Amino acid sequence: MKKAVKCLISAGPTREWLDPVRFISNPSSGKMGYALAKAAVESGMEVILVSGPVSLPCPENVERKMVNTAREMNEVMKNYFPSANLTIMSAAVCDHRPASTDHHKVKKLEVSKNITLVPNPDILEGLGKIKRPGQILVGFAAETERHLENGKKKLRQKNLDWIAVNEVAEGKGFESDKNEITMISSTGQSIFFERGEKLLLARKILDAVWP
Ligand code: CTP
Repeated sequence: MKKAVKCLISAGPTREWLDPVRFISNPSSGKMGYALAKAAVESGMEVILVSGPVSLPCPENVERKMVNTAREMNEVMKNYFPSANLTIMSAAVCDHRPASTDHHKVKKLEVSKNITLVPNPDILEGLGKIKRPGQILVGFAAETERHLENGKKKLRQKNLDWIAVNEVAEGKGFESDKNEITMISSTGQSIFFERGEKLLLARKILDAVWP
């Protein structure tokens, strides 16, 4: 049992609001992050799950913090990160948000005139900058091409210990119950997990990053 290990996990998409009835988001279901939270609790860890809007129930014995926008997720992650031993960022954070959010519904003829996007903070990169020795930081890379090459770039750029690279294609990644993952470590290890249920993969990922 991995008692006294504090594990912080992010999951799901973020929503970036244009007005009260319109947002930019992505098809993340949150299943991978929720599976990781379940597997971490099973292994005896104390788990905080920071979740974007998804329809999944909170896994038993997990403390869940619901968030909506990338900026909200950033605040909550930064808050819990200093006391976490293991942090896994599996959320599909929107890289951009509308430059302004209107508090009234924008009339349809005006919508396209009003969309200017500005970058959101890179939450994981921010955590990588404040990581202390002994803390393990794991990211995900959703790639549609040159998966391993792009994954390794993100591992270095964001100062991660591990990155889980998954291919996004029909029936893989985002909304699927199954996934196929290559784990790459900062020390040059590479482990391939063949296509399987996300909960089984989650257990394997945890065994790799926190043996
Ligand atoms: N991530 C994050 N904050 C963002 C964007 C991404 O924390 N604003 C995290 C994701 O949770 C994931 C990792 O960074 O763990 C990689 O995300 P991904 O979408 O694959 O890559 P990006 O860094 O957004 O780069 P690109 O879209 O150019 O592939």
